Amino acid sequence: MFGVCYYPEHWPQSQWDQDAAMMAELGLTYVRIGEFAWSRLEPNPGDYDFDWLDAAIESLTSAGLKVVMGTPTATPPKWLIDQYPEILPVDPDTGRTRGFGSRRHYDFSSAVYLRESLRITEALAKRYGAHKGVVGWQTDNELCCHDTALSGSELALEAFQHWCQQRYTSIDKLNSDWGNVFWSMEYRDFSEIELPIGAVTETSPSHRLAYRRFSSDQVIKYHNPMVEMIRAHAPDKFITHNFIPMNETAVDNFALAAPLDFTSYDNYPLGRTDLLMTGAPAEQLRRYMRTGHPDFATYYHDQTRGLLNRGFWVMEQQPGPVNWANNNPRPAPGMIRFWTLEAFAHGADCVCYFRWRQAPFAQEQMHAGLLRPDNSKTEAWPEAEQAMAEVAALDIGNQPLQPASVAIITGAEGLWVSDIEKQGEAYDFNNVQLSYYSALRELGVNIDFISVDSDFTAYALIIAPSLPIVDQAFVDKCKASSAQFIFGPRAGAKTSEFGYPAILPPGLLQQLIPIRILSVETLRADCMEGLCWNKQQYQSGSWCEQIDAGESEILVRYDNGEPAVVRQDRTTYIGTLTNREFLLNFFQQVCQQANIQTYRFGTDIRVCQRGDLMFAFNYSDQPQELPLDSDASLMLGSTHIEPHGIAVWRPSGS
Ligand code: GAL
Repeated sequence: MFGVCYYPEHWPQSQWDQDAAMMAELGLTYVRIGEFAWSRLEPNPGDYDFDWLDAAIESLTSAGLKVVMGTPTATPPKWLIDQYPEILPVDPDTGRTRGFGSRRHYDFSSAVYLRESLRITEALAKRYGAHKGVVGWQTDNELCCHDTALSGSELALEAFQHWCQQRYTSIDKLNSDWGNVFWSMEYRDFSEIELPIGAVTETSPSHRLAYRRFSSDQVIKYHNPMVEMIRAHAPDKFITHNFIPMNETAVDNFALAAPLDFTSYDNYPLGRTDLLMTGAPAEQLRRYMRTGHPDFATYYHDQTRGLLNRGFWVMEQQPGPVNWANNNPRPAPGMIRFWTLEAFAHGADCVCYFRWRQAPFAQEQMHAGLLRPDNSKTEAWPEAEQAMAEVAALDIGNQPLQPASVAIITGAEGLWVSDIEKQGEAYDFNNVQLSYYSALRELGVNIDFISVDSDFTAYALIIAPSLPIVDQAFVDKCKASSAQFIFGPRAGAKTSEFGYPAILPPGLLQQLIPIRILSVETLRADCMEGLCWNKQQYQSGSWCEQIDAGESEILVRYDNGEPAVVRQDRTTYIGTLTNREFLLNFFQQVCQQANIQTYRFGTDIRVCQRGDLMFAFNYSDQPQELPLDSDASLMLGSTHIEPHGIAVWRPSGS
């Protein structure tokens, strides 16, 4: 299914019918509206104006379209901020209040804002909850986007003190858990606790971890009542949210997703590639600047799907140049169709393009839409048409999700630890996780992102690239599972309160693999050393753990002969950050041993499976040959896959 993001309030009413007719003509089903429209829905306090929205919904539904209603809480209007200035959040880095004039200017700890958000949500849900044409809801918009998860406000401080009291119950316990005797940081009472910001040098890592946990909880505490409010008035409609990835917001997205029917993601591959490859050499960026990096879109698709382990929506799909990255190229011809099919291949149930028509005013006037401001169709239009026809012909949307054999354990705690204690320039949670994901994807392996709380039974191989905090329940689950486990460096290296395990890392994981990490060294990127595996040299050095391997098998050694990768029974421990080639070759061998099929078709080819359809996506600007079995039946494209082309086939025997 397909949809579009539309802002009727941006256009004269006289245009709505024609817009709706064109959307229907394009073959769209869904139209998301409303998510920034508070100042039009309630122009003055308590003075609601739904007439225009009634009319807009009427225009859309008369054309046969279905409406997804966004609640407008990402943009509190001026009068509300003037009435209650304490709604505004405080930037924890600068201590400055973040002002009105853009979006997301609210503090998750503001009880007043929660009350006001519930009020506007209730008004909307009451009016449209039972409306036949309004088939679903989106809460807020991209919670915590623009670095808004943390606030340094007085309200946040008060709420944090309360949160600490709940968690630690006594100030002595908090002092002891945080190690506050160090540097005379001991408190006598919860009311003395400050936020870990603005100090002379590093604040205690335990304190910062607590602040991260608290801030994540605040987001969930704000969001859950909104979902309940919509549910109460629209019990048989779906509720979703368009998530910002966990590695950007540092919020526990698994917890945030829990009350929703399905998750959604906003897919802007070129903007993300530009930002994530800032600093990469020009030749590397140029290769992907118009296609997006082969793993960036699906990395987030797979994570979004994993939050609830079911089909997801792309609520916003980039249709052309965006306006918000450092540089904003045009997509290569064909990429709108390519990204659309790729999303479906990775489990999307619906792709909505952002936005219907480019706005000739305000912040995003340089952002493309399906239409230009003069109503001419952009290149995205015919590409969306092609994608719709292909998705329909292959019936991709109705293919069951492919149960993956390989899972990556992800979670906010690994990210918090990496942000709080880097120890070396190279250790970055997201880079570590992405490098593991990317190597597995280059092998054509379907991947599920799971949490420590997920059910492990379906998986043959479970990989935890960065899992510094584990508990006994997790270890017991690993013991009970029959999967192979691979842990990346730093696994089990911190206690739940950010201490160093007295038995040495990997702490509780010693029950799975009886090794001890004696020390960690980190080296500058230009002072790299190496490791040797299967008589081949690979890079190592940016993070190297000195391992006492005990009785475990040594699989890989550093150049100095000491163990770098060790294994005991079903558990493998990688004690170093290394390079792509190592991960590729090593994971390929692990997959072979675990009977997991791989498709290593080339650096720029990505293979994945949905139902009984196999997909290959060619990210390269050169044609490539796909070494398919002769009895594979091609459904789309050919084994000579065009630049930026797609091939779809049914494997032999299916
Ligand atoms: C998204 C956001 C939209 C729009 C878009 C521009 O992050 O949800 O409202 O700003 O980016 O690319």
